[in-house]
Amino acid sequence: MYPAHFAEVSRRTADALARSHLDAVILHAGEPIGLFLDDQHYPFKAHPPFKWWAPLLDAPGSMIVFRAGSRPTLIFRVETDFWYQPATLPESWWPAHFEVIEVHSKQESRAALPKDLSKTAWIGDPLPELIGWGVGSINPPDLMRRLDFTRARKTPYEIACLAEANQIAAQGHRAAAACFRAGGSEYDIHQAFASACGQREQELPYNAIVALNEAASVLHYQVLRRDRPLEHRSLLLDAGASFAGYGSDVTRTTASAQGDFADLVDHMDRLQLGLCALAKPGIDWRDIHAAAVERITALLCVAGVLRCGADEALESGASRLFFPHGIGHLLGLEVHDVGGTMADDAGGTLPKPPRDPALRLTRKLEPGFVVTMEPGLYFIDALLGPARSGDHAKRIDWQRVEALRPFGGVRIEDNLAVTADGCDNLTRDALGFS
Ligand code: GLY
Ligand code: MN
Ligand code: MN
Repeated sequence: MYPAHFAEVSRRTADALARSHLDAVILHAGEPIGLFLDDQHYPFKAHPPFKWWAPLLDAPGSMIVFRAGSRPTLIFRVETDFWYQPATLPESWWPAHFEVIEVHSKQESRAALPKDLSKTAWIGDPLPELIGWGVGSINPPDLMRRLDFTRARKTPYEIACLAEANQIAAQGHRAAAACFRAGGSEYDIHQAFASACGQREQELPYNAIVALNEAASVLHYQVLRRDRPLEHRSLLLDAGASFAGYGSDVTRTTASAQGDFADLVDHMDRLQLGLCALAKPGIDWRDIHAAAVERITALLCVAGVLRCGADEALESGASRLFFPHGIGHLLGLEVHDVGGTMADDAGGTLPKPPRDPALRLTRKLEPGFVVTMEPGLYFIDALLGPARSGDHAKRIDWQRVEALRPFGGVRIEDNLAVTADGCDNLTRDALGFS
């Protein structure tokens, strides 16, 4: 599938260049970022516009030069440094598509570039050398907008990479669930996940959220406790895996025993599948978010967490205390992929619903979009604390909240690839439907 992807990326980039009145673009992989007063570097992450062309993830300083109508050049940077293993080009499906020039310094990179760069754009770190190199424009917003906008529509190759990233994450989620059932700590569960994925931490697309019990109420919980809690009530695991530069973003919530919380998880699972069934071309993602808010509100009423009617809960905003994030986002080379609120590639934006500032996607779905579907329902102290003494207090059954609070919350998150008439659920294909 890569040759067709490469051809499509070339076509879209040529179009964006022509409309930006530019001849060529240099895509920079990024430079290593050093620690203050130290000789170490932060883990290197290649820049997404570079990764779009090739899954070369470990060659900082490399560049891809594209000019419409000619074969792109990969300026492949190899450090001649006996402290580290120099990068090597993999024997893989993609390098043959490039004219490869190996370089060992920035000066050699400059020498490998065309002499006249006045009509060439650079996308990447704004290196101090660029002015002296005569680069015409650095990160020009119009070109970048055009590329960001079009990246929402994934090629079949990209969807296959995301499907593979889901297959790998599914192995991790299975191992993590087993570790939870065996009484592991958050740290143990994390290690079980990463090990089953075969990926070290810096290779994962984002820091895994491994939350036991109350911690599941913290949306981006970042702690990995080493101690094993006395009781394992619930696990919320939001963890993805990488493949060829693409990342999956998958959440499962597991209850350790039957009971009200386990029932809530089952209800959310069905609710999530119902929302997945709405994802198809032409639907405005803001409408899917609104449907999610409505359905979660209804569930909160049925579960006895809310005492008022669903209409009042919606209008007053009471139910948003329990679901304060967006229903999903674009997914691809970045976990929260670019272009989610772009109306077009000319600079227009599609506003977020005023009451839902955390929604990251406001576009209509198109075939090729890959999105997450991630309804959640949490018992968040930071939101419920102030509500206890406010206007919402009468709408909430606080005893019910107290009973469910020790479980933290529920999130179920799948990755959907929008097709011509619906969507493929990449996560359930990998993990199964139960
Ligand atoms: N893992 C972050 C998110 O679900 O958006
Ligand atoms: Mn997630
Ligand atoms: Mn997500």
